[in-house]
Amino acid sequence: MSHQLLRSLLFKFDAEFSHDLTLKALSLSNKIGLLYFLKAPHHCKLRTVMGIPFLNPVGLAAGLDKNASHIDAFGKLGFGFIEVGTITPRPQIGNPKPRLFRLPEVEGIINRFGFNNVGVDAAVENIKLSKYKGALGINVGKNFDTPIGRAAEDYLLCMKKVYQYANYIAINISSPNTNNLRDLQEIKALNILLAQLKEEQARLSDYYQRYVPIALKIAPDLTSKHLDAISKSIIKNKIDGVIATNTTVTRESVGNFTNGNEIGGMSGRPLYKLSNLIIRKLYARLQGEVPIIGVGGVFSGEDALEKINAGAELIQIYSGFVYQGRKLVLEACRSIG
Ligand SMILES: Cc1cc2nc3c(=O)[nH]c(=O)nc-3n(C[C@H](O)[C@H](O)[C@H](O)COP(=O)(O)O)c2cc1C
Repeated sequence: MSHQLLRSLLFKFDAEFSHDLTLKALSLSNKIGLLYFLKAPHHCKLRTVMGIPFLNPVGLAAGLDKNASHIDAFGKLGFGFIEVGTITPRPQIGNPKPRLFRLPEVEGIINRFGFNNVGVDAAVENIKLSKYKGALGINVGKNFDTPIGRAAEDYLLCMKKVYQYANYIAINISSPNTNNLRDLQEIKALNILLAQLKEEQARLSDYYQRYVPIALKIAPDLTSKHLDAISKSIIKNKIDGVIATNTTVTRESVGNFTNGNEIGGMSGRPLYKLSNLIIRKLYARLQGEVPIIGVGGVFSGEDALEKINAGAELIQIYSGFVYQGRKLVLEACRSIG
């Protein structure tokens, strides 16, 4: 069935119901062999970023496979890498429903899931069952009821538990749906957190005799001054990569559209320009010393290429995949080359 037809059918239902149904159908299709004959994108060159070989530069962004339970299916769809999570130490159910909203007129999404996930131990069990051989990023966060002053303990615990299964670990301090989480982007708190993460990384890399890079995921709603300070902290603490950006809390130009005023983080087309602006500013500040993974509003091959031109070495997709399906992954690969 074409993605357009499938989409018009699925869009008739509640957004989270369709989302869950699609994930189940995808994994079932993979189990019964329906995804076996899908061709991997062959236009892309292999590239090495953060010391990791990537089959292609187009990845699945965090949040679509929160529990790492659909890795094999997503692996068949042509993504060059997959980022699972956000995973927290303990399982949590997230915010009350409804918490996922489509903005069909502008091809956006607003979500306030609040890190619903099965917890790090169950997620690790899921990862162990997967046969996927490509690059795997594991995105970690804090439980909603961990006081912000003790957030580092949650990140360190998750890091320790996922370390040996990850190609890179993404540190999510930028979701708008966990109270005060983004305060960790404040420079004093950030410096302390990043130093602790690097210390733990050194210890784990010694123990496992394998270096797993850390990438920091940042918000798009940062001032230039704030970006200056964050960039300095990233360089000073030798963080291996930056993922820019998470969803936005701004609602410029969408207020009059369906669901445009829902609370949460907005993604998709309305985020595109803002996330590109952040990537450009970040690139100017990091001066190529730290690679950027660009994410936010990619809906075409041209959009993907624009992110590379703005300074990203890899890109990720979430909302564009919901609206357009696998063809977007292939198109993005073809454009970037
Ligand atoms: C429904 C939904 C859930 C998300 N959950 C997470 C998450 O758990 N962790 C995270 O780091 N980002 C999460 N994101 C943000 C995406 O990874 C991505 O940064 C953002 O959506 C921008 O990309 P896009 O415009 O291609 O969707 C989520 C996004 C959406 C739409």
